[in-house]
Amino acid sequence: MLVVKDLWVRYDEIPVLRGVSLEVREGELVALVGANGAGKSTFLKTVAGLLTPYQGDVLLEGRSLVGLPPHQIVRQGIALVPEGRRLFTRLTVYENLLTGAATRPDPQERRQMLEEVFDLFPRLAERRHQKAGTLSGGEQQMLAIARALMARPRLLMLDEPSLGLMPKLVDLILETLQRLNREQGMTILLVEQNVREALDIAHRGYVLQSGRIVMQGTGQELLASEEIQKAYLGM
Ligand SMILES: Nc1ncnc2c1ncn2[C@@H]1O[C@H](COP(=O)(O)OP(=O)(O)OP(=O)(O)O)[C@@H](O)[C@H]1O
Ligand SMILES: [Mg+2]
Repeated sequence: MLVVKDLWVRYDEIPVLRGVSLEVREGELVALVGANGAGKSTFLKTVAGLLTPYQGDVLLEGRSLVGLPPHQIVRQGIALVPEGRRLFTRLTVYENLLTGAATRPDPQERRQMLEEVFDLFPRLAERRHQKAGTLSGGEQQMLAIARALMARPRLLMLDEPSLGLMPKLVDLILETLQRLNREQGMTILLVEQNVREALDIAHRGYVLQSGRIVMQGTGQELLASEEIQKAYLGM
């Protein structure tokens, strides 16, 4: 579905991604892990059209996305849950969800999507008229994911959805992603600091280090690797 080839991205002349190639097949859950500053967020932002590579290509079902503005990329079926949630804090839960459906004007389809995300996160249903800025951190993260789902993406990308959450909520978020993948066949690209949990639910994973992919394999292969255990699992 998504094929990224030899991607180079720089900020102020300094290359941060140095020839990253990565693939996400339809129906897969793929984890991208790596240390702070490795370039994970830069990678997701580039796929989402927020940054432009100076070399390489991003292909969705064979068509290049490079140079398209972010809203066009959403229309092509890719949604990003950005690092730090980026909600409209003064809008309600319901209003935030509607902003996610900007590319879906059909009211019937919107109602159906609202029902689906409220089923997925009942806490949001109870709080639909609450201002997003007053939600707890975990609830805000649920809202950020739900808002991305309102665009009915074919590929859902998430940048550290469990950041700052207590372990029980981390589990809830990751289990929800696994369910979306298994039960609805949603294709997911997940960036996570919780390396063990992410690789545990992922079909495949990639390790990014200083802007390069240094390892890839199935989730279980990576979990079993001595290098991963030393570098990321504290073993
Ligand atoms: N707008 C920017 N201008 C200049 N440098 C940037 C900018 N954004 C990121 N960088 C640098 O690019 C590198 C990669 O950053 P990025 O945010 O992609 O890392 P990351 O893997 O997501 O890290 P983390 O796990 O801490 O979120 C870092 O060295 C960062 O300082
Ligand atoms: Mg990041």
